[in-house]
Amino acid sequence: MVIQQGQRQSAVTHQQSVHDPDVLEVSLRPRRLDEYIGQSKLKRHLRIHAGAARAREEPLGHTLLHGPPGLGKTTLAYIIAQEMSAQIRITSGPAIEKPGDLASLLTSLQKGDVLFVDEIHRLRPHLEEVLYGAMEDSVLDIMIGKGPSARPVRLKLQPFTLVGATTKAGSMTAPLRDRFLHHFKLLFYELEEMQQIIARSAKILGVTIDDGATKLLGQASRATPRIANRLVRAVRDFALVRKQDAVDQPCAEHALESLEIDHDGLDAMDRALLHVLVKDFNGNPVGLSTLSAILAEEQGTIEDVYEPYLIQQGFIQRTPKGRIATQKAYKKVGVEIVQETQMRIV
Ligand code: ADE
Repeated sequence: MVIQQGQRQSAVTHQQSVHDPDVLEVSLRPRRLDEYIGQSKLKRHLRIHAGAARAREEPLGHTLLHGPPGLGKTTLAYIIAQEMSAQIRITSGPAIEKPGDLASLLTSLQKGDVLFVDEIHRLRPHLEEVLYGAMEDSVLDIMIGKGPSARPVRLKLQPFTLVGATTKAGSMTAPLRDRFLHHFKLLFYELEEMQQIIARSAKILGVTIDDGATKLLGQASRATPRIANRLVRAVRDFALVRKQDAVDQPCAEHALESLEIDHDGLDAMDRALLHVLVKDFNGNPVGLSTLSAILAEEQGTIEDVYEPYLIQQGFIQRTPKGRIATQKAYKKVGVEIVQETQMRIV
């Protein structure tokens, strides 16, 4: 799947999935670096390198974006293309199956284009070799023909910028990782930034939201803009059903309760995970495969989606022997038990 979008061509030219909320509804993604809230260090570096590259009339240089899902890697790839007045082509590591797929992508790039490869750590190893020459010398080495008559051919490519995104920089091979000039790590957002993102998104959607509701949603968004935007769309629906013109704190509370998201942003799966570590294993280390079997959730999802925030918030720790619960997790699980007992007594 490849999207092409940019200055010379404003329309999206591939079929987007209906599961992508941006297709059905107005996009909440910031389009320019000035509109992008948070990641101040990253933005500062990006501004410097993009400004210098523009002054030299050269591409930005291959850029690796890494960090947990939902923090804005794809949004930044679009912004990089916009800052460089370039077209962007979008694909992902697992979507590229054969050397021929990669070759046709690379040869179709025009001078200065941005090629965004999401989940670049999932690129098949034999394709990495094809990328090396493209990244280093803007050449593509391919074999023409088969058997004894096969011969190598070197094609010259237009200079381009590869923007790779990954949730697992550690799973990338060192030779691929080292070929990126810029390495930008996306961090979880501060509460203040989350509130700004929520206020901005509500404004774009034409939703009036008060400060209490904004703060509550900010706290419940796992320091992740994608979740914040999902919650803003959800509370908009709750307000409509409650026949309210504006989202206030009770409306936001009601929405979070229905979605089973608590004030720390933990959902039913997070709480189940903490429960397993605290109650079932008494604080002993638990391996990922055991957690996966008990929770009936894929290991990759536990590792990439649930754990980073639980670790960042200090609920769990990864040790060589497995995952362990912290004091904070004990407190959390304990508090919930008290709440449940009280609810039963009431
Ligand atoms: N929407 C999603 N991420 C955002 C960000 N970092 N800044 C502004 N709006 C956003």
